[in-house]
Amino acid sequence: MTDKTAQAADDLILETAGLVKEFRGFVAVDGVNLKIRRGDIHALIGPNGAGKTTCFNLLTKFLQPTRGRILFKGQDITGESPQCIARKGMVRSFQISAVFPHMTVLENVRVALQRKLGTSFHFWKSDRSLDCLNERAMALLAEVGLESYARMVTVEMPYGRKRALEIATTLALDPELMLLDEPTQGMGLEDVERVMALIKKVSANRSILMVEHNMKVVSGICDRITVLARGAVLAEGDYAEVSSNPVVIEAYMGSEAAELAGAH
Ligand SMILES: Nc1ncnc2c1ncn2[C@@H]1O[C@H](COP(=O)(O)OP(=O)(O)O)[C@@H](O)[C@H]1O
Ligand SMILES: [Mg+2]
Repeated sequence: MTDKTAQAADDLILETAGLVKEFRGFVAVDGVNLKIRRGDIHALIGPNGAGKTTCFNLLTKFLQPTRGRILFKGQDITGESPQCIARKGMVRSFQISAVFPHMTVLENVRVALQRKLGTSFHFWKSDRSLDCLNERAMALLAEVGLESYARMVTVEMPYGRKRALEIATTLALDPELMLLDEPTQGMGLEDVERVMALIKKVSANRSILMVEHNMKVVSGICDRITVLARGAVLAEGDYAEVSSNPVVIEAYMGSEAAELAGAH
């Protein structure tokens, strides 16, 4: 290997080689080669049914690939569990369903911090051991702009703020690579803008890979974009490159064409 290729490999935090997922003969992901550069916010986009969610589930180890390899920091993680890759620094944002709705916002972040410390089996043992995590939990809430919600019971929090809590509980694990599945889904404009700014902020010292439908978000904060269609990579580049690519425009023809154009 020349110095140049060694350097290039080192710049990649996540890589897939020939990733395939078949569901009873149906090929949902068809030989995908992804290269996620360290420090980037990388988006995975594509029309409905393109294979984005399947791909995301393969990367986060919720599904096992039929064929192909996944490398995280150059290490083969194809056969590893979600827990194992989380310890290595690759963490999927916890869906709001994984947050305890009847705990306060602060308690949820403390539980996530416990998980990082690996002492979660004892977390009910002493109130004091939890209290010593308060400071760190409050710092995380401050980072995502939820300080004033700390004492609120999570279920009562406005929808748009719950994504910020998910991000805080994910940050508690201090991921090098954070994976987000449609972080702005179902949000109004104001919440979308807040979450966009938050993702940009927390990307400062880490890499982010997200599946995202909203082209405003993709054009606004993503450094690099992979377009999937029918399970395969159609195009890759920055927003200007992929959004002007005739092949991409054609793939988006129909219901989502306006969406792609709308972000210009
Ligand atoms: N568990 C499954 N069993 C069978 N087919 C599936 C399964 N999951 C996804 N698919 C199919 O794979 C294709 C890609 O789906 P998906 O990854 O959800 O696409 P996207 O997220 O881009 O909309 C679709 O045709 C879908 O019907
Ligand atoms: Mg999907």
